[in-house]
Amino acid sequence: MHSVRAILRQTTKVPSTRRFLHSSPAVKSDALFIHRDTPDNNANLKFEFNKENQQRVQEVLKKYPPQYKKGAIMPLLDLGQRQHGFTSISVMNEVARILEVPPMRVYEVATFYTMFNRNPVGKHFLQLCTTTPCQLGGCGSTKILETLTSELGIQPGETTKDGKFTLVEVECAGACVNAPVMAINDDYYEDLTPETTKKLLDNLKAGKPVTPGPQSGRHTCEYAPGVYTTLNEEPYGPGFKIRDDL
Ligand code: FES
Repeated sequence: MHSVRAILRQTTKVPSTRRFLHSSPAVKSDALFIHRDTPDNNANLKFEFNKENQQRVQEVLKKYPPQYKKGAIMPLLDLGQRQHGFTSISVMNEVARILEVPPMRVYEVATFYTMFNRNPVGKHFLQLCTTTPCQLGGCGSTKILETLTSELGIQPGETTKDGKFTLVEVECAGACVNAPVMAINDDYYEDLTPETTKKLLDNLKAGKPVTPGPQSGRHTCEYAPGVYTTLNEEPYGPGFKIRDDL
């Protein structure tokens, strides 16, 4: 009588190659979730909406039934960030107080959405998209990133010493057709090249106005002149290639 182990040994094919176990790299950053007190971001610093924004808060609250006013967490956080410059712990606590929710409910939202900067950022907040279409589109976002880092002397995640520029890399900004794309504060700057990127930075440094949108001369996202890879003729009318008797 054979033991079960002996039978298994006979019937089980032993793989001829060794299998290696792989694991994901360890997450090295807790910056997205953890709050650490700093001199300019701690709960002892009081934050209040100014008079103008207090009116805005009331307007926002009117959109929600009283029992669902916690739905206003995002608009109020956004308002707080615009007034204070970033979403500090005091901004979050004030929003929680106004909406009568536990502060944790506000922290959950603020840590989930990357639009809320929980640390101070520069006057010009540069969010360069480096997702695949932007890496492949135009000259590619890698060249834009190189231009930004060399012109500003900072790496992604850093702020210039004069506090004017903060640079971050972001995932798809939703404007891939005009790749490579970078948001500066609330506006998008598209079809970037190293030259137009440098020009944008020079103008911002000099306090000159810059024009959002495609920097290539395109009006919006129509086909780039000379590149006939998209439809550029009148669309076929109804009934195209359909039998006459239908
Ligand atoms: Fe950059 Fe979509 S990949 S905007």
